Amino acid sequence: MRILLTGSQGQLGTCLKERFPEEWEIIACDSQTLDITDAQNVLNMVKTFEPKVIINAAAYTKVDAAETNSEQAFAVNATGTLNLAMAAKSIGGRLIHVSTEQVFDGHQQIPLNENMAPNPINVYGQSKLAGELLALHAHIDTAIVRTSWVYSEHGHNFVKVMLNKGLEMLKMRVVDDQIGCPTYAGDLAEAIIKLVQLKHSPRGLLHFAGDQQMSWADFAHQIFTLAAEKKQSYRQVSVERIRTADYQCAAKRPAYGVLDSTTLNKLLDQPIVSTPLAHVIAKLID
Ligand SMILES: NC(=O)c1ccc[n+]([C@@H]2O[C@H](COP(=O)([O-])OP(=O)(O)OC[C@H]3O[C@@H](n4cnc5c(N)ncnc54)[C@H](OP(=O)(O)O)[C@@H]3O)[C@@H](O)[C@H]2O)c1
Repeated sequence: MRILLTGSQGQLGTCLKERFPEEWEIIACDSQTLDITDAQNVLNMVKTFEPKVIINAAAYTKVDAAETNSEQAFAVNATGTLNLAMAAKSIGGRLIHVSTEQVFDGHQQIPLNENMAPNPINVYGQSKLAGELLALHAHIDTAIVRTSWVYSEHGHNFVKVMLNKGLEMLKMRVVDDQIGCPTYAGDLAEAIIKLVQLKHSPRGLLHFAGDQQMSWADFAHQIFTLAAEKKQSYRQVSVERIRTADYQCAAKRPAYGVLDSTTLNKLLDQPIVSTPLAHVIAKLID
């Protein structure tokens, strides 16, 4: 199995590299070796290596910065995704692309399945939805895995930010009226690898997220508690629960982003069991 992986230095990209079966031939590209906004380079790379599957883990993920840098967000998340879809089509390969719960507006308070209508409320979500639509339109052999609240041992994420706060603060204000499912990037990587291994490659939209739904404040409380139990240098930071309206940031966020992973899990022989947060925290602070 020959795979072209883009965004290989990101959270998901790194977790995929750590988990790919040994016998697979992997061409792992970071933003330096393959800028997905460069259509000609993407096509050259794909024609040279002829991967059976392209996994796109590259994205512009700075949600607040995207509000003022929409050109770059759309270049990477929309045009870059289209470039990969067209290149995959040119060699008869598959594209597995990753998207976000932020394509939804968060008004509906029931777990979100693949048939529900997207309606993004920020530039990041709009650019990701554009990427989904362009890729699905350009190449039939495209699967899009939407996920949410990604964290891991790598890169930048909420868990790592909270752990740093846990070394220096006693009290922290955290938003309590946005609900979602934290997703360990290692579990997402495992789900994507299993999708590649299926006999019949799935097409279209699939949702995948961790199995616990919570607010950011709940998530922060769990992180502080687990870290303080594990190591003395971490404090049990007290979480002050605040409303989104009382927290200043550039981009609007959906109030509800719980993804329903039923369809994807049914496709697999065995559903993915979510890795406990405690395991990831132990890896980060040991
Ligand atoms: N993080 C989340 O909470 C979250 C939630 C829902 C969905 N998602 C989606 O999940 C996927 C993986 O996210 P992640 O958390 O692993 O993201 P990440 O850690 O931010 O990694 C994204 C990677 O993409 C690379 N990249 C940016 N622009 C590029 C370009 N023009 N060409 C090639 N590579 C480029 C970045 O490289 P540089 O750092 O060198 O720019 C980075 O290594 C993304 O599709 C994201 O939209 C993420």
